[in-house]
Amino acid sequence: MPRTLITSALPYINGIKHLGNMVGSQLPADLHARYLRARGHEVMFICATDEHGTPAEIAAARAGQPVAEYCAEMWQVQKDLADGFRLSFDHFGRSSSPQNRRLTQHFAGRLDKAGLIEERSSRQVYSNADGRFLPDRYVEGTCPNCGYDRARGDQCENCTKQLDPTDLIEPRSAISGSTDLEVRETKHLFLLQSRLRGDLDAWIDRQTDWPVLTTSIAKKWLHDGDGLQDRGITRDLDWGVPVRKGDEPWPGMEGKVFYVWFDAPIEYIAATNEWADANGGDWERWWRTDKGADDVRYVQFMGKDNVPFHTLSFPATILGSGEPWKTVDYLKSFNYLNYDGGQFSTSQGRGVFMDQALEVLPADYWRWWLLSHVPESSDTEFTWEAFQTDVNKDLADVLGNFVSRVTKFCRSKFGEEVPAGGAWGPRETALAETLAIRLANYERHMDAIEIRKSAAELRSIWVAGNEYLQEAAPWATFKTDLETAAMQIRLGLNLVRLYAVLSAPFVPDAAATMLTAMRVEGADWPTDMAEALGALPAGHAFDVPDVMFAKITDERRADWAERFAGTRG
Ligand code: 2FM
Ligand code: ZN
Repeated sequence: MPRTLITSALPYINGIKHLGNMVGSQLPADLHARYLRARGHEVMFICATDEHGTPAEIAAARAGQPVAEYCAEMWQVQKDLADGFRLSFDHFGRSSSPQNRRLTQHFAGRLDKAGLIEERSSRQVYSNADGRFLPDRYVEGTCPNCGYDRARGDQCENCTKQLDPTDLIEPRSAISGSTDLEVRETKHLFLLQSRLRGDLDAWIDRQTDWPVLTTSIAKKWLHDGDGLQDRGITRDLDWGVPVRKGDEPWPGMEGKVFYVWFDAPIEYIAATNEWADANGGDWERWWRTDKGADDVRYVQFMGKDNVPFHTLSFPATILGSGEPWKTVDYLKSFNYLNYDGGQFSTSQGRGVFMDQALEVLPADYWRWWLLSHVPESSDTEFTWEAFQTDVNKDLADVLGNFVSRVTKFCRSKFGEEVPAGGAWGPRETALAETLAIRLANYERHMDAIEIRKSAAELRSIWVAGNEYLQEAAPWATFKTDLETAAMQIRLGLNLVRLYAVLSAPFVPDAAATMLTAMRVEGADWPTDMAEALGALPAGHAFDVPDVMFAKITDERRADWAERFAGTRG
């Protein structure tokens, strides 16, 4: 049985994610996981919350909670929303887990042994009132270049000039507003990534089948950018993985933690370890090539902003350890989804957030629209008009209507059993042939993780059924030729079953409704079209399902457009 390891970029813990976050990582990863499971792969699908770093500390302080308590609560909130969207993780972990602490410290110890870590002194802003060092972006002040009075210590948002916190005029803490700041000397560990440039270059060159978006970003940072400069991997913070060399203390590094981007990707491995601890499984057979992971295909999903960390920094950690860890085989990255003429924004609360989306409509509506418009080759835009039009057309008029027409017609004319009828005629044979070709295309696109093409092919599979029904017109045939009408409806009911199987990765709830209505448990992926279209024999009982997709009215659309026009309170 082929084995596939799938990881989705880890959502930050500080708040509920918007649809733009989900469409570029968790949702397409789920599509792939569901598809491969249906095709008989053994799948390990991993995600987790990314819990460390200053943003988590600040969000907790704003909520008036200790950071550990805040993270535990937000993990549950994010887990419940993931369940609401039917994201089928085998494990949804936490980067603050003991497993990640152990593995992060282990990797740091190995990198140190390999001579890839160096201690360096740097000068950093310390806030006396906050009792802590401030990361660059948490020092604010007036830009020396343009005079903007809310410039951040890393960059001025107004004139985009890259800054050093000490460049700012009248600097203050972004946390407390205090101006009682001083520059202090502090020591940090640096990962000597520059020494791994050759290894990383060769490794990226071997990935000939990766999407252009991924390799172009990786190559850009490797060659022209400053992506492969040695990188500080520790911070003066309380919340994070304490700096240790494996099990040993790290002299001089007491009270410091690893940088969040050092421990976050290690959580992919650690979360699999968490899964094994909770379920009694073996995590090393997914991750260690000396323990069976050689035949695993590892696929990662993420937004384009995460690509440098996954093509350079994380591989540097893994390759630099000198141990036989699994590296990514295919990295699928995405552009951005914009919202109604602007950007989705967490900090400004702009757009639709996961909790709000589920308050207004069930998961399948969102899954279908987002996946069929996933920003694969360029940025794309969510508008309420497009959402209404596409959902009404694809889900209500095509798929939902097909299921409803076939089942209702059968119930009224033949009862709630698959009718017998005669043998297929030329129209039915032609349909089966068309569907076999379309299915092969669908599989090819799904295998290649070409999501928009896959959605388009699935839609044509649904359309083919509708066109057949329109042309065969069993309601007319029924008046003159009962046998043929029965055969047409027998085929129609079998199409409902087939559509359930093929659509499940995109719209799992609708697929489950269709299978339940057809009284089928665990239908297999079709291998022979004619056989699949005869799976439900004459006499097989079924039920008419409730309306699967209600149309979105103009009134509701206008209402939501207004409700989500501003920023989240
Ligand atoms: O950009 C983000 O949302 C990060 N939290 C992604 C981390 S992915 C992984 F490396 F953990
Ligand atoms: Zn400026």
